[in-house]
Amino acid sequence: MNSFYITTPIYYVNDVPHIGTAYSTVIADVLARYHRIAGDRVLFVTGTDEHGQKAEQAAKERGVPTQQHCDEMVEGFKEAWSLLNISYDDFIRTTESRHTSVVTQVLQRIYDQGEIYAADYEGWYCVSDERFWTEKDLIEGNCPECGKAVSHISEKNYFFRMSAYQDWLIQHIHENPEFIQPESRRNEILGFLKSPLNDLCISRPKSRLSWGVPLPFDDEYVCYVWFDALINYLTAPGYLSDEDAFKGWWPADRHLIGKDIVTTHCVYWPTMLKALDLPLPKTVLAHGWWMADERKMGKSLGNAVSPKDLAAHYGVDTLRYFLVREMTLGLDITFSEDSFLRRYHAELANDLGNLLNRSVVMVRRYLDGMVPKVDPQDPVLEDLRTLAGATLTTATEVLEANNLNGILDAVMELVRAGNRFAEQQGPWNQAKDPDQRGGLELTLYGLLETMRHLSVLLWPVMPERCSEIWRQLGCPGTPESADLRQLTWGDAKGLVAGSTVPGGDPVFPRIEKTLFDTRQEEAGVSEADDKAVEEKKPQSNRITFKDFQNVELKVARVVSAEPVEGADRLLRLQVSLGDEKRQLVAGIAKHYEPEALVGRQIVVVANLEPATIRGVQSEGMLLAASGPDGLALLQPGLEVPDGTRVS
Ligand code: MSP
Repeated sequence: MNSFYITTPIYYVNDVPHIGTAYSTVIADVLARYHRIAGDRVLFVTGTDEHGQKAEQAAKERGVPTQQHCDEMVEGFKEAWSLLNISYDDFIRTTESRHTSVVTQVLQRIYDQGEIYAADYEGWYCVSDERFWTEKDLIEGNCPECGKAVSHISEKNYFFRMSAYQDWLIQHIHENPEFIQPESRRNEILGFLKSPLNDLCISRPKSRLSWGVPLPFDDEYVCYVWFDALINYLTAPGYLSDEDAFKGWWPADRHLIGKDIVTTHCVYWPTMLKALDLPLPKTVLAHGWWMADERKMGKSLGNAVSPKDLAAHYGVDTLRYFLVREMTLGLDITFSEDSFLRRYHAELANDLGNLLNRSVVMVRRYLDGMVPKVDPQDPVLEDLRTLAGATLTTATEVLEANNLNGILDAVMELVRAGNRFAEQQGPWNQAKDPDQRGGLELTLYGLLETMRHLSVLLWPVMPERCSEIWRQLGCPGTPESADLRQLTWGDAKGLVAGSTVPGGDPVFPRIEKTLFDTRQEEAGVSEADDKAVEEKKPQSNRITFKDFQNVELKVARVVSAEPVEGADRLLRLQVSLGDEKRQLVAGIAKHYEPEALVGRQIVVVANLEPATIRGVQSEGMLLAASGPDGLALLQPGLEVPDGTRVS
């Protein structure tokens, strides 16, 4: 059995979780869950970084003991991770004695090896980043990392002989291309290592900072917070406390970090490990930043979006899906609620939700709600079967490359293929013809089995929603009990012929209300523009703006849809225009099955004279474009309130 040890950065207790910190944690969780369902033995560690000046200062400001401040702040992280369904195996806090004891032993060992020495230090200190800088590092006299003012300091300190490892580190990075990912970060570190590497100042005098691990060889000093914090990656799997367990996990497979902490993880950390004679982590994976107002999102910048608020409004799994799907690992991205809604409606509510909905609704309507007994290897199912198998292979392959976007691309392709298969087979027509009963059963089995595969493939990203999909399909057990590497099309232990398909409420209902106030200015023209248009003489078949304004186009939502008896081209739709309900008759039955329309937004002419078509009253007309491959219903590209005027 492969083992897989993955870590997140340990977060400063002073901050509260926001989309940025939630992202690191969710991505690590998704990778951990994929490895678990791929059959690996997994250790997933997150935690909090509690020493240092910031925690000490914040506690002082609040007038509480520093430990109490930390204990209280940690709860915010634990709550947020529990809300986001983060399946960590260990939560490590740097103030725990299991950790401080390891830090003390590591310091003593490196000191005894002669690799820590005392010297006078003169330099520029940034309180915010708790780091020293040389004069040439500064940008316009300020900290090159956070831009804040620095203070000039001269004092005795202890140094780790990091410079001795420079050549070795450069060689390691060259020989192990997977060590720093993505490549842009690897190049950044190789660039950094072109200049001579300084030794690392690993102490802070107690007179300035007392909230830290005391140096075992000089009790006037505490350990530099980064030197202390990085060691958490060793403490959690049992370094110096349970050597057998430790050997089973170390070296770590993935350190997941943000691009802001690449130097500490790819320069300081490997040299510390080398001094301890330990192998280096396989991969340090650095993601980009979630931005807001063109700046990195963060509490201190006052632009943080709360994952709690988003999850409470949109659902935990929807948020998890968005975080994983929207960001290309390594690049920065601006958070926007519009893109959140766009992704949700296009991929979850429409594509995935529609596939699930039509599958279970039709099984319940046409097959008495039971899984049909068919040959899963039937040639009719070949394309879908092959694609489902290929998607599983892609998922396990690209997982090795940490390519979560690659997995989701492949998965969404399978979703679309499922929907295409339904359109091609037309089970709503097969159901009308008793001779096509066998065909109908095959079609619906194909859709159910595709959904079963999808609920396993998407489980690491949306564990709760996928368990609900699994339940609606009536499969025994849970999706995580299905091994990704063993999942086979037609497995008799998955969909059991004759068992009930219970169905249920839509798993991805449409979202009407946004969380933030994103009301846009009403689109339109000013009165002056209006007049100018009016004065222009209409030419040939052109109409004036006023003529156009007379046509009331509105966004409507289909509430129900059914065939019109005796008219095989017509569907009777009940639609909602917000406060008002309407009935429409539309000649689209050859192109859309009724189930597929329910819940969709369409565009209608709302002020058309009512008409009676085949004895049924129609109060409006929907808009559609007739293309070479069929009819395309017009719908807004983004969810808007029902009844919104199209102008
Ligand atoms: N305590 C150190 C890490 C020590 S690890 C041995 C630290 N903590 S932090 O709380 O400031 O931030 C940790 C991580 O949060 C960042 O590296 C990054 O992974 C994540 N992010 C914080 N803000 C972020 C964004 N706006 N966007 C994406 N990730 C960001 O540094």
